[in-house]
Amino acid sequence: MAELPKLPKGKRVLSGLQPTGIMHIGNYFGAVRQHIALQEHNSAIIFIADLHSLTSILDAESRRGLVRDIVLDYMALGLDPSRAVFYRQSDLPEVTELSWILSTVTPLGLLERGHAYKDKVAQGLAADAGLFTYPVLQAADILIHRSELVPVGQDQKQHIEMTRDIAGKFNHVYGDVLVVPDPLILDDVAVVPGTDGQKMSKSYENTIEMFAGQKRLRKQVMGIVTDSTPVEEPKDPDASNLFALWKLFANEPERSEMAERFRSGGLGYGEVKKDLFERLVAYFTSP
Ligand code: ADP
Ligand code: TRP
Repeated sequence: MAELPKLPKGKRVLSGLQPTGIMHIGNYFGAVRQHIALQEHNSAIIFIADLHSLTSILDAESRRGLVRDIVLDYMALGLDPSRAVFYRQSDLPEVTELSWILSTVTPLGLLERGHAYKDKVAQGLAADAGLFTYPVLQAADILIHRSELVPVGQDQKQHIEMTRDIAGKFNHVYGDVLVVPDPLILDDVAVVPGTDGQKMSKSYENTIEMFAGQKRLRKQVMGIVTDSTPVEEPKDPDASNLFALWKLFANEPERSEMAERFRSGGLGYGEVKKDLFERLVAYFTSP
């Protein structure tokens, strides 16, 4: 297993996950693993962003089920409610109150640059005010707790920058009230690729769901897209999506050895997928 780098201590750490689908290894390595590790030596606050998910999940029954699944996944992965604060966003209504207050100091131009909103408009889809002001609600989630550090994957970098800008504007008007937080994004796992080589995401159907049944999990692993280089030919590990996923479950000497096997030829992708599947099962089923 890839080692976690040395993480900060003594900080007020906050992060959240939207209940928009089944948790996958991109969420785990990009964010959730750090959330759980950080509860050891920090004051950690983790929440389920059910209000944010209203921008994409409109069915109440599905949303309730997804919230429950994420709670169970977090607990199974080691989140300990006696050490970390763990809550559902809608159970803390002060967040939406703060969100309104923050919106009064948020420039429209800042929100117009938001990726999620811009992408939707670029696709010719009708965006609503909820999607537009999504980053203000996220800023409220973070700022309400005076959070110092926000561990997330690369795709959330812009949201944290917006939070910093909004906190700065607020402090400019009202004095030094809000703590301006820093993102914590680990280079190695900032963007975990999906089975098709794009960023792994619930919305692209390219995920590996660590708690799927073995049959489904095997199908997802076997479905990792590879090129048609014949077994005997040398392969470039750095251009391989399969290698990028496999190395999440390997330590440094194993990574170098496998990279060498890729380069020297004679290695079939099927063998690597089989090994990845076994490592996945061993990692996520061990106590
Ligand atoms: P998804 O894109 O699957 O809907 P979310 O937007 O709910 O995932 O992301 C939850 C957390 O997981 C965020 O901190 C996000 O940055 C992180 N994350 C999601 N996908 C990846 C990925 N492929 N690589 C690294 N981190 C990721
Ligand atoms: N927007 C985040 C995502 O899609 C979820 C989120 C909401 C969040 N509020 C947050 C993450 C506050 C970190 C801090 O993954």
